This record gives sequence, structure tokens and C-alpha cells, in this order.
Amino acid sequence: VESATELFSKAFESDPTIAYCLANLTQKQRDDCRPRVIRAIITAATLNAGTIDEVNDWKCCGAVLTPGHMMDDFMSLIRSGMPFAMWSMGFWGCYRAITEMGPMSMACKEKVLPGQGKCYYILYVATAPSGRRQGLCSALVKHYQQLAVRDEVPIYLEATSRYSCSLYQKLGFSVVDEFTVGRGKHATDGRLEDGGPGVKIWGMIWRPEVCTKT
Ligand SMILES: CC(C)(COP(=O)(O)OP(=O)(O)OC[C@H]1O[C@@H](n2cnc3c(N)ncnc32)[C@H](O)[C@@H]1OP(=O)(O)O)[C@@H](O)C(=O)NCCC(=O)NCCS
Repeated sequence: VESATELFSKAFESDPTIAYCLANLTQKQRDDCRPRVIRAIITAATLNAGTIDEVNDWKCCGAVLTPGHMMDDFMSLIRSGMPFAMWSMGFWGCYRAITEMGPMSMACKEKVLPGQGKCYYILYVATAPSGRRQGLCSALVKHYQQLAVRDEVPIYLEATSRYSCSLYQKLGFSVVDEFTVGRGKHATDGRLEDGGPGVKIWGMIWRPEVCTKT
């Protein structure tokens, strides 16, 4: 968890969805808060049969929820340190995560996988800057695709940039829906901006052949 938290916290430093949630905090508060939130999320996932997978000695890493498992039970959230992480997000951070991002993300997943259909849910994938453009992320996603074929379930994820969206498309994922958070209040990079267009998120799915036939 610690190695993954370190890699994700750096790689998602300018991630628009995290910047959107933490927009009311100072830079110092954001830098303190980001690892806490990421650590809590991936800890809650691993407490519920989620996995953390690394490539090339932590040059690239992924955190996924495995089929049939969520991470929203009360005890896991407490044990993961989520209350402390949310406290450090402040009122507006919690408000955005709970009332806007969470419901939009759930609605997007529900659209393509009704009734909490079983899937691998990729929470985070990131490659350290020194390991980028060497095929590490693609290799990791292909590994998840092999697991999905084995278990005959789809893979769902939310891409938070056009770049990662197009990378996943190259790997065979399709866009389920595009949704925008913070419309009218945030810039595309997540910062507060009066009248801004907001932050775009792409819900994406990949189905093994066996699932597309049924
Ligand atoms: C998005 C991200 C995970 C991609 O990681 P990566 O390991 O660089 O990804 P890959 O190497 O598999 O693919 C990246 C590009 O390198 C290319 N590539 C792959 N192997 C290559 C090689 N041997 N030589 C040259 N290019 C190569 C791929 O075709 C791809 O091309 P593109 O930029 O034209 O799409 C990484 O940029 C990152 O961590 N970003 C910040 C966090 C983030 O956005 N995560 C995803 C959120 S959903």
C-alpha cells in the first residue's frame, strides 16, 4: 500500500478530478491530503479482496477491485483511515466527492453494468515519469484483461484525461459515457473558475469476447 500510495500520489499530482475535489485547499494542504485519500481508498480495496499490482519494480502500478467486491462496508472504511482522509479534504472536498463525483460515477457504472454486475474495477493505474512510454501501463492492463477473460467478466474504469482515455481505447476499451463534474465552477484542470467548463471523466468498459457473445 505504501509503495502504491507514493507512486499514485506523485502521478496524480495534477489529476483534474483530485484537483477538483481539493480545490478549496492550499497547495500544502493538497499535497498532504492527496496521499491520505489515495492510501485510504486502496487500503479499503485491499481489505475487500482488491489487489495492488506492480510492474518493473514499482515503475508502474495498478489498484483494482476484484469481481463481486466493493469497498463501501463500514468497518473497512474505518480501518482504512477514510474518516481522517475525508476530514483532511475539508467540507467542500467531502461535499464534491459524496454529492457529485460519487453519484455520477455510480450512475455511469450502473448504465453499463446494471445491478452492480460483476467486473474488475480499475481504481488507479499510473507509471512513474521515468518509466513512461515503454509499454508498462499497457502490459499491466493486458494482464487485467487476461484475468477478465479467465473469469469471464468485464473491466470497468474511469479515465480522467483524454490521454489515458485514448490509451485505453487503443487497448480495446469503449467509452460508456462522458460526464462532467464542477460545471460552471471549475476549470478543466479542476481549479476553481467562475463559469468554468468543469472536469470531464470518461466511464470505460472492456469485455472479453465470451461476454460480448452472451
Ligand atoms: C497514463 C499512464 C498510466 C500511461 O502509462 P505508460 O506506462 O506510459 O503507458 P504505455 O507506455 O503503455 O503507453 C503510453 C504510450 O507509449 C507508447 N509505447 C508503448 N510502448 C512503447 C515503446 N516501447 N516505445 C515507445 N512508445 C511506446 C504507447 O503506444 C502509448 O502511445 P501514445 O502516447 O501515443 O498513446 C501514465 O502516463 C501516467 O501515469 N499518467 C498519470 C496518471 C494517469 O493519468 N493515470 C490514468 C488515470 S485513468
